[in-house]
Amino acid sequence: MTGSLSNKMALGKSIKMYLTIFVATTCIYMVLYQYHVSRQPLTANEVVKHPEKTSLPSSSYIASYLWAPMLNSSVINGTMGVEQIQVHGQVRVHGPNTTDSSASASASGSAAASASSSGASVYSTVSLPQTLSSNGNLKSISSTTTTTTTTTVAATVPTTPTTTTTTTAIDKLKTPITQSSHAHKLLGKAAHKIRSRFVAVSEPPPLYIITPTYRRPEQLAELTRLGYTLKHVLNLLWLVIEDANKTNPLVAHTLDRIGVPYEYLVAPMPEQYKHTKKAKPRGVSNRNRGLDYLRANASEGVLYFADDDNTYDVNIFEQMRYTKKVSMWPVGLVTKTGVSSPIIREGKLDGYYDGWIGGRKYPVDMAGFAVSVKFLHERPNAKMPFKPGYEEDGFLRSLAPLQNSEIELLADECRDILTWHTQTKKNPPAQPFNATRYANTNLAFIEKLLVRP
Ligand code: UGA
Ligand code: MN
Repeated sequence: MTGSLSNKMALGKSIKMYLTIFVATTCIYMVLYQYHVSRQPLTANEVVKHPEKTSLPSSSYIASYLWAPMLNSSVINGTMGVEQIQVHGQVRVHGPNTTDSSASASASGSAAASASSSGASVYSTVSLPQTLSSNGNLKSISSTTTTTTTTTVAATVPTTPTTTTTTTAIDKLKTPITQSSHAHKLLGKAAHKIRSRFVAVSEPPPLYIITPTYRRPEQLAELTRLGYTLKHVLNLLWLVIEDANKTNPLVAHTLDRIGVPYEYLVAPMPEQYKHTKKAKPRGVSNRNRGLDYLRANASEGVLYFADDDNTYDVNIFEQMRYTKKVSMWPVGLVTKTGVSSPIIREGKLDGYYDGWIGGRKYPVDMAGFAVSVKFLHERPNAKMPFKPGYEEDGFLRSLAPLQNSEIELLADECRDILTWHTQTKKNPPAQPFNATRYANTNLAFIEKLLVRP
């Protein structure tokens, strides 16, 4: 009896012990699990970008109120990303789809098409691999995309449907925005690493970027770099104008791949300047061709001459977009002064700072001013002279009458540098290719991509 009683007591004790261990283990496990969950990266559906909280530092950030917060690229994936890209495609007035046959795919309502053609053109960092590859497929299907492209400009797009789709886009954006502050809290310290990304809630005026280019070993590299800068800019048409008698399929192929809406035209330098030993008027016939194009095809917005070798901060594009007549700003890496800039004294334009004045009324660099298309229409004779060193001055003078007080001063009233006159090192032409030795290798393909002068 005594034995069985003590046995029962021992059994009871051990049951109690096991229970205690079980409960304790469960507790520890739960605590560990909670900790693990708190360290997990959040899923795309939970995390959306927070609205920009910084106050606007100066009047030069004029476009800011037109912009609404957009999803952050680092957290976009799956359906969320695609939906945003589609939304974005609706906001755009003209995408790459306006210049090639992918327009039909987009117009037919194919989600994939609109995502790849429009979305990919703006969100280079957002674009998913499959988006890009579908873009590639689209391009390869559209065999007529090379050489001179068709004409479609913002002004030709009917206003009413655009407004309607824009409203839809805003509605779709509402959900992520309201969730965003919650996500911000959840993200805690990591939040400062998240960059703002914006999408226009109302359609901004179109930008026409006139880029002279010419055949040389660096050409495709320059156009690629500039193209991906322009890809960050909404409602833009890139006028790529080559100093040549005919278009180059390699250039067209590069422009297609970048996916920025473009026109590829040619405008050769007149023979008389080609063979001179003196300085040549570089890019002048190209820019005048661009002006002709705008006179024929555009009615509003702003034009800007962007040489293919310079460096541009995308903020300058948002600032120049609202130019009423002419706007100006500093350009870094110009002459021995290191910068070419309007001088602002007591809030007013009071001359120019540049290492070479040369009797110019407007001693500014090509990258340092923009002109309103409406204003260009009011000056039908405005053009660029074939006068090396005086191209900018001659063109700006041809816009007369123009008061100094009418020149808008951008880049934080010319206190900041957002454009640079960078120059690329000249590369020697590639040596001749030995087609026999490297027949049936990849080199036979690469060789065809080389741009020899
Ligand atoms: C500087 C200015 O930044 C130019 O805007 C100006 O046209 C030029 O000086 C000038 O006064 O001649 P810079 O860097 O010296 O430019 O010249 P490049 O960059 O070689 O050429 C300017 C643009 O014209 C480039 O976009 C280039 O691709 C194009 N270009 C150049 C041609 O179309 N054809 C040519 O033979 C050379
Ligand atoms: Mn240059």
